[in-house]
Amino acid sequence: MAENFKATGNMVSVQNVHKFFSNLHVLKGVSFEVPVGSVCTILGPSGSGKSTILRCINQLETIQAGRIFVDNKLMGYSDRDGKLYELNHKQIAQQRAKIGMVFQRFNLFPHMTALENVMEAPIHVLKEDKAEAKAKAIELLGQVGLADRINYYPSELSGGQQQRVAIARALAMKPDLMLFDEPTSALDPELVGEVLNVMKDLAQQGMTMIVVTHEIGFAREVSDQVILMDEGVIVEAGTPTELFENPTHPRTKDFLSKVL
Ligand SMILES: Nc1ncnc2c1ncn2[C@@H]1O[C@H](COP(=O)(O)OP(=O)(O)OP(=O)(O)O)[C@@H](O)[C@H]1O
Ligand SMILES: [Mg+2]
Repeated sequence: MAENFKATGNMVSVQNVHKFFSNLHVLKGVSFEVPVGSVCTILGPSGSGKSTILRCINQLETIQAGRIFVDNKLMGYSDRDGKLYELNHKQIAQQRAKIGMVFQRFNLFPHMTALENVMEAPIHVLKEDKAEAKAKAIELLGQVGLADRINYYPSELSGGQQQRVAIARALAMKPDLMLFDEPTSALDPELVGEVLNVMKDLAQQGMTMIVVTHEIGFAREVSDQVILMDEGVIVEAGTPTELFENPTHPRTKDFLSKVL
């Protein structure tokens, strides 16, 4: 049966996505929707495919079947009369520019100050003028609580501060969607809260977010939708209340019993 893929009006629509790394079938028909302005958290054991699905949404990986739409645009292809044509690098870069991603490791440019890190992409990718980019970067660094650290180098900042710079840097591109892959996993426990608070603020401001995390408190409090992945499939998805209070699948119950 031919599959009927189409945009759904949601910010993200993942439709029956399959991903292989050579013979290894890592995503086995993953589908979910993320409405505009909502927060989706993805939980699941190590190796279940959480990072891979984020990387596919952001086109850091290609997919072998299915479709991904972001803001109602088909990722990676143009669809002309039902025929798919691969986008070129420039077109893919344009699609990716609307998606911010924050990783476990902060990936800041070590030779640039916090301010320079945040200004870099707006100047070089968006071609903003320097004064405008600088003013915006200062504002964003203020928003993440680093107004007094703008001229510090990454090596002079704590992990939590570096991660907040990374968030400000992603926001400087004015993304429609933010992807977070275990943004607090590499942090000392006392620094986790400051990063989660910045993410909560962002959610409250209406940013659409997909967050892979082991922070169950955050998932429970902030998400509109929680997804549990295991072995490349979505085992169960629902509101935090549904998933945490009334899990139906044995694998969800098993996972929760280990993390709660
Ligand atoms: N580049 C790659 N080449 C080959 N296999 C890969 C690659 N990236 C991931 N995998 C495999 O794909 C599967 C899913 O990996 P993924 O990183 O998505 O898991 P995860 O759910 O994010 O795990 P974790 O919680 O440990 O971060 C794993 O079996 C992993 O070994
Ligand atoms: Mg991962």
